[in-house]
Amino acid sequence: MKRITVIGAGNVGATCANVIAHKELASEVVLLDIKEGIAEGKALDIWQTSSINNFNTRVVGVTNDYSRTEGSGVVVITSGIPRKPGMSRDDLIKTNAGIVKSVVDQVVKFSPDAIIIIVSNPLDVMTYAAHTASGKSSNKVFGMAGVLDTGRYKAFLAEALDVSPKDISALLMGGHGDTMVPLPRYTTVSGIPVLDLIDADKLDAIVERTKKGGGELVNLMGTSAWYAPGASAALMVESIVKDQNRVFPVCAKLDGEYGLSDVYLGVPVKLGKEGIEEIITLDLDNDEMKLLSDSSDAVKSVMAVYDSLK
Ligand code: NAI
Ligand code: 2OP
Repeated sequence: MKRITVIGAGNVGATCANVIAHKELASEVVLLDIKEGIAEGKALDIWQTSSINNFNTRVVGVTNDYSRTEGSGVVVITSGIPRKPGMSRDDLIKTNAGIVKSVVDQVVKFSPDAIIIIVSNPLDVMTYAAHTASGKSSNKVFGMAGVLDTGRYKAFLAEALDVSPKDISALLMGGHGDTMVPLPRYTTVSGIPVLDLIDADKLDAIVERTKKGGGELVNLMGTSAWYAPGASAALMVESIVKDQNRVFPVCAKLDGEYGLSDVYLGVPVKLGKEGIEEIITLDLDNDEMKLLSDSSDAVKSVMAVYDSLK
């Protein structure tokens, strides 16, 4: 691929650009930020590791100059502001949706064929805002959260079982928040059902920790995570660029899948050169379906807040 763009050169955006460059997923990665100099500086710093870490991908930083992003095949959007003291959740939704929409307008203008991956929070609703603003088909605009949440779940399990995280296969569905839906029935260690290896109460504790995984890191660092989020978005980019059809949980617009409509929710999809190639529908049992439907209600309530602020 000729060019991949990452919007927002903060912690997540810069990390994502760094991983994309190291994996040589395109000839050029453009990092764009609204803050003067930050994208240029971080891009230069990453580029200066090219001879040290042995990669070819050019890394270019720009301040709000979308002409440099022209013809990008994939664009990852991480721009936004964190919630500040005194700011309500509604204020955050309004501010970040405004940023995401203005970014999407420029992205679509200069890269009409780009596949767009949203990372900015609140994720499910920012995906809604971006998809609506883009005018593109929903298989081309979707959000990253499930890869990260599943990564956290696998990391906790690997530690508890003292096994390699590489051997854990797992799936999480639903919104990016407390209502996310980990699925122990779809969790295995090299094909062995996880409940054959761990007590149910220990697994429950891991599931609960996963649901609060983002908050755990905010409490430790005073800001949200970036290594795993940046790498997660880059993994999605890789599956698209290499047309791998990897199966990941992705925040996608649902149109009847799982009996749910008009909601942006984490579901397993195949990711390939066209973006979402297929939404995979599982035969969830009643308890799993109830959790997914509760998660959908939670996301819809935030979507309604966003609609009321427009
Ligand atoms: P950050 O504050 O380090 O970086 C955000 C960057 O966006 C800043 O450099 C800022 O100047 C830039 N920005 C703001 N308005 C812009 C605009 N109009 N155009 C271009 N750039 C603009 O934040 P961080 O840690 O990188 O997080 C980024 C976003 O990702 C946040 O919304 C965060 O909550 C979200 N996030 C989502 C995750 C997920 O799983 N979906 C995981 C981790 C973070
Ligand atoms: C995370 O899960 C806060 O969405 C961010 O780390």
